[in-house]
Amino acid sequence: MNRFTDKTVLVTGAGGVLGRTAALSFAQEGAAVAVADLNESAVHETVKMIESEGGKASGIIVDVTSSESVKAMVDTVVSRHGGLHIAFNNAGILGGGTPVGEHDEDVWNKVLAVNLTGVFLALKYETAQMAANGGGVIVNTASNLGAHWRLAGMSAYSTSKAGVSFLTRTAALEYINQGVRINSISPGPIDTPMSYLPGETREQRDARLAPTVPLGRVADPQEIANAVLWLASEESSYVVGHDHVIDGGATA
Ligand SMILES: NC(=O)c1ccc[n+]([C@@H]2O[C@H](COP(=O)([O-])OP(=O)(O)OC[C@H]3O[C@@H](n4cnc5c(N)ncnc54)[C@H](O)[C@@H]3O)[C@@H](O)[C@H]2O)c1
Repeated sequence: MNRFTDKTVLVTGAGGVLGRTAALSFAQEGAAVAVADLNESAVHETVKMIESEGGKASGIIVDVTSSESVKAMVDTVVSRHGGLHIAFNNAGILGGGTPVGEHDEDVWNKVLAVNLTGVFLALKYETAQMAANGGGVIVNTASNLGAHWRLAGMSAYSTSKAGVSFLTRTAALEYINQGVRINSISPGPIDTPMSYLPGETREQRDARLAPTVPLGRVADPQEIANAVLWLASEESSYVVGHDHVIDGGATA
């Protein structure tokens, strides 16, 4: 398929596993991909991977918690590629592990800053750019461990991700009449480093998580990226302002 020919796609967290998988998939379908992440070497690696397959990519170092940095990211995409058609706001961190009464306040603030404020800032500059230039499509990464489920010790992460789901719904209503279509995804556990506890082996991770998923396994990152690409494509043109749970039935 070539659903993204002549489109410019911005992916944050594109140095990480899910972002990189989506970035590669967008490029394979013809998009020019702006690869954005805080991790400079990971950005270069993703760009190299896309280019080695003959795709088009450029790297941007961004801290999604900084308004200045996020504005510069969007401005850079537009000046390098001549526009911005699709954004996948996906940068995120875990953090937590302790009950609310013992929660480190710096960790709380950091998780909310990256996962929720980071998406807010991205939406702020992306919607302005897209609305002024004929519209666009945005997909945000929430988590099933947000508005859909709960796990003791994960208050900051869950709160931030539930916030992303609701921010998505609100922003979608605000911008659909200006041609900007916004949705979010709420994945269950994905086969990335984020799904491991410190020091855990793959077997231990699978033994802990697989029984929580009716499908019996964690997701391959490509299975989540496939949904992102569908939401970003014209195939989902009537899908607006919803959070899409992709979790192997965990919250069915
Ligand atoms: N892995 C899972 O099981 C899982 C499940 C549900 C949702 N998610 C969400 O999916 C998204 C991608 O996760 P992943 O598993 O690929 O993790 P990952 O750690 O591989 O990727 C996350 C990326 O975000 C980047 N990042 C962190 N802070 C940043 C900042 N301030 N500015 C810019 N970039 C920053 C990191 O450098 C990293 O490259 C995250 O939002 C995560 O919360 C993951």
